[in-house]
Amino acid sequence: MNKKETVIPQHIAIVMDGNGRWAKKRFLPRTYGHKRGVDSVRRTIRACDKQGVKYLTLFAFSSENWQRPEEEVSALMSLFMSALESEAKSLAANGIKLSFIGDTQAFPEKLQQKIRQVERLTREGTALSMRIAANYGGRWDIVNACRHVAQQVSEGGLAVEDISEDTLRASLSTQDVVDPDLFIRTGGEKRISNFLLWQLAYAEFYFTDTLWPDFDEKQLELAIQAYSRRQRRFGKTGEQIEQQSQESSAGKIPSSRKAPPTGTKSA
Ligand code: FPP
Repeated sequence: MNKKETVIPQHIAIVMDGNGRWAKKRFLPRTYGHKRGVDSVRRTIRACDKQGVKYLTLFAFSSENWQRPEEEVSALMSLFMSALESEAKSLAANGIKLSFIGDTQAFPEKLQQKIRQVERLTREGTALSMRIAANYGGRWDIVNACRHVAQQVSEGGLAVEDISEDTLRASLSTQDVVDPDLFIRTGGEKRISNFLLWQLAYAEFYFTDTLWPDFDEKQLELAIQAYSRRQRRFGKTGEQIEQQSQESSAGKIPSSRKAPPTGTKSA
């Protein structure tokens, strides 16, 4: 493909799967795979920033991951702690804004403090804005949003007939970010696993057999190239989208009639 045609997604969301299998293939403990997974996280942040991706959301720990063996859960908590400790300054220095989505109150107090500290330290970042989904579940997010909307109704601040998609969207944990354009899952499975259920409504899906510790800049480029070849229709026909893009490049239609933003064209 001509490099000029590469479309960079504004927001990429990733399910980082395959750490355990990566380790098992090498007769190593699963936790070793998670450690190598942190290296992939670092590489991916750098690569996304370099490519001009604006938002990155990584699924680090699902609401269901508590069911894993106790020692694996505790190793993951320690790993989050040490990764945050070692990366905080470099994230801030590179303008990466880091925040967490999910019910982090269930985490050990020290980890919660570290999370708040890193969020504070990086909050002025204007390069890549990154979210880590931790103790996160898409259903949990939607239920929370419904509770928030119900609260507004019960306090008289909102009429039932005024509840809209926008009302709900504004109550989700991702209220301050555009929906993902590209969803990537490594490790060969083809499912969402209760990730951003609402937010992925119109995302393009990319599945790769590559295990997360092997995911690198090249792999990210392949995913972005696959994304670039997709035609995002948002319910319209392919012909309508073609016509719109011709009219739009000829400057004939106002931007309000165009399909929702699909990312920016790279040089
Ligand atoms: C899934 O692989 C991976 C996880 C549940 C943990 C992911 C966490 C990291 C990569 C660390 C990230 C750290 C920060 C600070 C963001 P799996 O264990 O399910 O692999 P398997 O399917 O091969 O068993």
